[in-house]
Amino acid sequence: MARRKKIYEGKAKILYEGPEPGTLVQYFKDDATAFNAEKHDVIEGKGVLNNRLSEFFMSGLNAIGVPTHFIKRLNMREQLVRQVEIIPLEVVVRNTAAGSMSKRLGIDEGTPLPRPIVEFYFKDDALGDPLVTEEHIIAFGWASQQDLDDMVALALRVNDFLSGVMMAVGIKLVDFKIEIGRIWDGDFMRLVVADEISPDSCRLWDIKTGQHLDKDVFRRDLGSLTDAYTEVAKRLGVLPTNV
Ligand code: C5P
Repeated sequence: MARRKKIYEGKAKILYEGPEPGTLVQYFKDDATAFNAEKHDVIEGKGVLNNRLSEFFMSGLNAIGVPTHFIKRLNMREQLVRQVEIIPLEVVVRNTAAGSMSKRLGIDEGTPLPRPIVEFYFKDDALGDPLVTEEHIIAFGWASQQDLDDMVALALRVNDFLSGVMMAVGIKLVDFKIEIGRIWDGDFMRLVVADEISPDSCRLWDIKTGQHLDKDVFRRDLGSLTDAYTEVAKRLGVLPTNV
């Protein structure tokens, strides 16, 4: 590939200038981080798996009319995406109590929630991405009330789609995080799902055995992360060759 201008480098991905205005190339690294980057490792092949899995989820969403930034996969580690203005919030949807919700509220991991719960976290590494309320979001101007309503609707549509896809291959979607961006068409603005959807950003439990098939394998030292992600890709029929 031709040398490209780097726009941004994050913990697991790099964004380069794309071939057309309004596009970017998203490169998936092998780096795994947890606990606000306190824990770090390089896991060979993770980027290839996440590129392929994110392509699968994002193109599935596009196909059912849930807008995403995804245009097409370019190669084993890169995909072409629309450039968006990222809203500085992480949008988490939970179906089952786990992780920070279990810790914060003292609810046992694995407790089914009465309905999907949408939470917002302010994207700020220095602050450790704190949980925020809709009041904070509106008061500090991170999004309008209309944006918030649209973000919740978008997140719940993603939840319905992902839950169904995972259920069909014997995996429970416990929770996930998405990022949402704005795309402007003249004066018209629409919200799209951006960043990635992969086992890095979801909790996925085998329905029969309860085995973790997501980044908790790395966070909690539960075995091989590559094996877990490979299992997800295999079940979805998208296992890349030569990971
Ligand atoms: O840690 P917590 O329980 O709040 O995470 C909820 C979900 O959001 C998990 O699936 C986790 O992988 C994802 N997440 C993420 N990036 C973060 C925080 C959480 O992908 N910075």
